[in-house]
Amino acid sequence: MGKWTPSGWRAKPARHIPDDYPDPAALAAVEERLRAAAPLVFAGEARQLKQDLAEAAAGRAFLLQGGDCAESFKEFSANGVRDTFRVLLQMAVVLTFAGGRPVIKLGRIAGQFAKPRSSATEVRDGVKLPSYRGDNINAMGFTEKERVPDPDRLLRAYSQSAATLNLLRAFAMGGYAHLSNVHQWTLGFVNRSKAGTRYRDIAGKITEALEFMEACGVTPESAPQLAGTSFYTSHEALLLGYEEAMTRVDSTTGDWYDTSAHFVWIGDRTRQLDGAHVEFCRGIKNPIGIKCGPSMEADELIRLIDILNPDDEAGKITLINRYGADNVGQHLPALVRKVQNEGRNVLWSCDPMHGNTQKTANGFKTRPVSRVLQEVSTFMEILRAEGAWPGGVHFEMTGQDVTECLGGAQEITENDLSSRYHTHCDPRLNGEQALELAFLIAEQLKSHRDGANEAAPSASAS
Ligand code: PEP
Ligand code: CO
Repeated sequence: MGKWTPSGWRAKPARHIPDDYPDPAALAAVEERLRAAAPLVFAGEARQLKQDLAEAAAGRAFLLQGGDCAESFKEFSANGVRDTFRVLLQMAVVLTFAGGRPVIKLGRIAGQFAKPRSSATEVRDGVKLPSYRGDNINAMGFTEKERVPDPDRLLRAYSQSAATLNLLRAFAMGGYAHLSNVHQWTLGFVNRSKAGTRYRDIAGKITEALEFMEACGVTPESAPQLAGTSFYTSHEALLLGYEEAMTRVDSTTGDWYDTSAHFVWIGDRTRQLDGAHVEFCRGIKNPIGIKCGPSMEADELIRLIDILNPDDEAGKITLINRYGADNVGQHLPALVRKVQNEGRNVLWSCDPMHGNTQKTANGFKTRPVSRVLQEVSTFMEILRAEGAWPGGVHFEMTGQDVTECLGGAQEITENDLSSRYHTHCDPRLNGEQALELAFLIAEQLKSHRDGANEAAPSASAS
């Protein structure tokens, strides 16, 4: 591979990046301003995340990644950020308890704006306009004016990301994320939820564990990790002009880091081996995600891993698998076997959202919670059968009480979807559905652990 520069991607074919900015000089001027803007995250934080992910790749931790499909300017509020953060923390506590391993909390937040679209144009009532591409590019309204890419939106997305990160850092370390607070919220959910009795058992055991720790003198005063938490950010590295502008040399190591987020991923539609997105991502030292969908071939995956992680560094690569509940069994085993045989170090994560999208008769894009859970379960069974660790999950979710995905204990039906359908792109799990899923996945993690303990040779026999 040739020498890498932050702008080298510009010479490669780039899919899903708008090329119709009416004033390219205005775009270049905005990118210049961003080049001088403060970094949103620090290289040392990205290195820490990579170390945490290496633990998950080795089977000693679990990754929980989640947040909006697309953040928006209109839906942004401090309470919205707080509520998504809160649900992620609640999910993490349940999963930590059940899996007996630390859970890495990684938001799809503070920069998740740009979207690849299946069609470059949208037609409504015979009128054809450019598709909406995310709030950092154009606007959602169906008028010609709103669909024109506007470079100033990049600056607004940058400031919203900075404000979001500021809130997240305060929530994570300022007392809000106190472990016993988080558990109290979860008890509230268990009492409220129609399926609450099913979750009472795990929730009760967590209460006992916390009481036991407190009796032993393990309190937030004596163990600061109970008073706060680490929380990382991620988004799809789609709009490379923005990512390039945020990429800086780390003064400690001399390496390049994309300071727009701790972790960025390459989407299933932009992972061409000779394409711009792979070229950009191969030069940054951040941990990288690769979305793997049904068209990913095993040989291609190995080549992709080798371009992005030539030294096979642990924690660098997370494979985010998304096939659909019915297709995961057909595609995933071959990839796992190949990666195992070739001895590449990766973290296997499951995105049970993007392969399970369907359209209802009344025109809503939705996802049944049952399919989402089914894909996670099958993913876990496959990884275990191949002797690998199912190390993470990736959800599109929000802390708000939206009605975008079907089912769950609230039994959201097709007719309910219109009441609070707010997403700017794909349907998200609401707070209750997300937490419910964490409990259901926890049951599976726990039964695996119990099974593993039974299968382990006893001390006297070994
Ligand atoms: C996404 O994560 O929102 C997305 C577009 O996913 P994928 O690249 O897997 O389709
Ligand atoms: Co999406």
